[in-house]
Amino acid sequence: MDGSSAVESSATGQAPRAEGAPRIKVRAMGFPFRESGIPRHWFMGSAHLTALSNALQLLFPAGERFFIRSVKHYEGQITDPELKARIKAFYGQEGRHGHEHERFFKVLEEQGFDVKSFLAWYEELAYEKLEKRFSPAMRLSVTAALEHFTAAMGRNALTSDFLDQAHPILADLMRWHAAEEIEHKSVAFDVFEAVDGRYPVRVAGLFLALVGLTRFWAEGTRHFLREEEKLGTDLRAAAKAARENPRLQEEKRRRGEMFRHAILEYLKPGFHPDDIDDYELARSYLESIGRLEG
Ligand SMILES: [Fe+2]
Ligand SMILES: [Fe+2]
Repeated sequence: MDGSSAVESSATGQAPRAEGAPRIKVRAMGFPFRESGIPRHWFMGSAHLTALSNALQLLFPAGERFFIRSVKHYEGQITDPELKARIKAFYGQEGRHGHEHERFFKVLEEQGFDVKSFLAWYEELAYEKLEKRFSPAMRLSVTAALEHFTAAMGRNALTSDFLDQAHPILADLMRWHAAEEIEHKSVAFDVFEAVDGRYPVRVAGLFLALVGLTRFWAEGTRHFLREEEKLGTDLRAAAKAARENPRLQEEKRRRGEMFRHAILEYLKPGFHPDDIDDYELARSYLESIGRLEG
């Protein structure tokens, strides 16, 4: 598929459709987290990098349930059978992602981290209070933007060897999640285009998504670092090691660049997720682990 991928104009209830978009497959994984002796600093031996990654994991399950709710609100307005099928598969994939990340939460608790207090705060603020303040169209727009970010993060994960420095089971978890985020990256966007599609709503959703993701991710990271302190980690030494690690700094730069680029892409008025040619990246990873077909 090239950059000029065929995206048909969206009439109400009709699916814009890209050539080369994959059939979305739901895969049950069952990663052996508890059996694998995952160390507390499972990413590059770094308390900081691990805190950042653990924090993102805590955001996923409730976030993914929010994505499903946001799309489900409009499901009845979708008439195109192919988009309806993609929506169902999207629910299936997001549900499985949340399930696997929540299984990993048990390991975090066994490592001595308090996970529940952060989740209680995050879920109440994000989904009991904030979610209810926004219209269904804005919730869907936020979802479409967050899906754009997760696909961008997925591309980053699959095109860098950085995950080689994570514990192999966590690397497997993140690569599988990355590949499926790419597979279903256009579903929420297509639903938004089919039922609303207003550019100002799309852009507002992007900024809300960015503010929400940045805030909750940063809070989650701070939470884990506070927990590290309680568990006796010398955070000053850990911070110094992180600052002086060129590989870690390079990945931080790469992540910043990836977000900047993702924002600029999404701001283009005629943007569609399928304009970004990455389905082959997901496909080849899934094939390499023997899970292309489910
Ligand atoms: Fe997901
Ligand atoms: Fe997703």
